[in-house]
Amino acid sequence: MRKTSELLWQDVQHQQLFEILELINHADSGPDIVLRLQQYTETHFTLEERYMEAVAYPGMDTHKRAHDVFRDEIATLLESGEEIDDCSRQVISTYLTEWLKRHVFGTDKELEAFILASAVK
Ligand SMILES: [Fe+2]
Ligand SMILES: [Fe+2]
Repeated sequence: MRKTSELLWQDVQHQQLFEILELINHADSGPDIVLRLQQYTETHFTLEERYMEAVAYPGMDTHKRAHDVFRDEIATLLESGEEIDDCSRQVISTYLTEWLKRHVFGTDKELEAFILASAVK
């Protein structure tokens, strides 16, 4: 899934998110890995949102709303407070990975191009 990107911080953080999602699929993963996903997601989304503000990105509201959907999904998972069984672990991992792929290769690529064309990198 490695791709070339001039916006290195964004690329590295996306790889890290995909790696954490992959860990959710492991048999011995528990709620702690979902918490780790939540923390890293927040770090990443907050940084993208700061960049959007810094470059006055026109698509900022839509992009932030997309982030909030993902934030809500993870929060719901954590609030359920249940042990994750094998079946739901696969469903969760697959769903979140597919969502993230669509976001990273669509919405985030548009942001990346805008940031690269701006003075702030
Ligand atoms: Fe992103
Ligand atoms: Fe994003």
